[in-house]
Amino acid sequence: MAASLPLGLGWPKDNQLELVPNTSATFHAYVHIPFCAVRCGYCDFNTYTSKELRGVSQADFHIPLIQEVDLSKELLSSWGIPDRKLTTVFFGGGTPSMFEASQISAILESLKANFGFTDDIEITLEANPEGLDHIKLDQLKLAGVNRISLGVQSFDQQVLDVLDRVHSRDKVIAAVRLARELGFRVSVDLIYGAPGESLESWEATLRQALELAVEHVSAYSLIIEEGTAIARKISRGELADVDEDLNADKYLLTEKLLTEAGLKNYEVSNWGNPSRHNRAYWESQDWWGYGPGAHSHIAGARFWNQKHPATYAAALEKGSPAHGFEYLDPRTQLEEQLLLMLRTDSGVSSALLRELGVPNELVANAIANGLLQLAPGGKLVATLNGRLLVDGLVLDFLSKSKP
Ligand SMILES: C[S@@+](CC[C@H](N)C(=O)[O-])C[C@H]1O[C@@H](n2cnc3c(N)ncnc32)[C@H](O)[C@@H]1O
Ligand code: SF4
Repeated sequence: MAASLPLGLGWPKDNQLELVPNTSATFHAYVHIPFCAVRCGYCDFNTYTSKELRGVSQADFHIPLIQEVDLSKELLSSWGIPDRKLTTVFFGGGTPSMFEASQISAILESLKANFGFTDDIEITLEANPEGLDHIKLDQLKLAGVNRISLGVQSFDQQVLDVLDRVHSRDKVIAAVRLARELGFRVSVDLIYGAPGESLESWEATLRQALELAVEHVSAYSLIIEEGTAIARKISRGELADVDEDLNADKYLLTEKLLTEAGLKNYEVSNWGNPSRHNRAYWESQDWWGYGPGAHSHIAGARFWNQKHPATYAAALEKGSPAHGFEYLDPRTQLEEQLLLMLRTDSGVSSALLRELGVPNELVANAIANGLLQLAPGGKLVATLNGRLLVDGLVLDFLSKSKP
């Protein structure tokens, strides 16, 4: 059960948690940088423009983040979790490219000093194209970042305008080329389904991304989040609503073009050389989420931080930035495994479905209807059509399961 925690007194039972360390789990860090120059009309992520910061200084915000890194080391030791080196670090946002490279470097130094890095560590930084130039990329490389995840969304200026993006298509092309020249692994985030976007526009976006020879593409269907500017425009009739059929066509086109170009799908929205960090989430490994609103998953428990940067920093000063905490009972852990792994090319075992009590005939129907297939290793994997419906399929399995 989820529990809310008093400000600054982050942990149940005076830091004595009932955790079950999983010695085979790998360890990962997510660092949330909660700043944006402007808020895009479709986005409801935990991020703040300068007017919303309530006195927090972006230029100094690496300091509380490093404070939390030190605290996490102390807590993990006090909970009896064995020391492990970090396998991946992911700076997400918000807009991590708004941080100075020196701030990123200071956080990485602190993570390395506290935990150590594996030799092949993957260090990703989410960047907005307008925030990247030669000097910045050089500095980020020196700081240790080796993978850039660039928020491109579209190469069609009309779509960029509908999404309130401030960058131009030319800026993206220059940023990707520079990053590749400097030896970064480059991924691009794209969004399909913006109001007014045609199938042809989406095809041109995909082809342009492929022309840039990126090694990884995340393609997300636009989610109209409640309370966002785009949701208001749609409800006032100023913009067209989402067209689910057209979106399905766009997904099928994405699969076709990216696969033909050698980028294999490995999770519903991801193609190419896999992000080891994201894989860690899907495989329910251990990670600590640093920063406002960040979630952690350690040894069968989940906890999350105060959301606003000002509240987060104040709580940290009092002892802990944690805002909520829950133990994941065995059933919830299995359900999450199904929900996450059926979205990936690894699929799930029949044993997991049996343990969850999913009726055999439901699984047989999903296979007969071409939504699931039996992979060579005996796992059940979503087919292309299954990927389009996978979340609904899992909900159906779980609602009819007999624990
Ligand atoms: C939260 S952003 C952070 C990175 C960076 N600030 C940017 O905008 O690219 C990460 C990605 O989430 C995706 N995203 C955000 N809001 C979304 C929405 N409502 N629907 C679909 N994708 C969304 C975008 O593709 C974006 O690149
Ligand atoms: S999509 Fe990225 S840049 Fe836009 S508001 Fe969200 S986090 Fe900020």
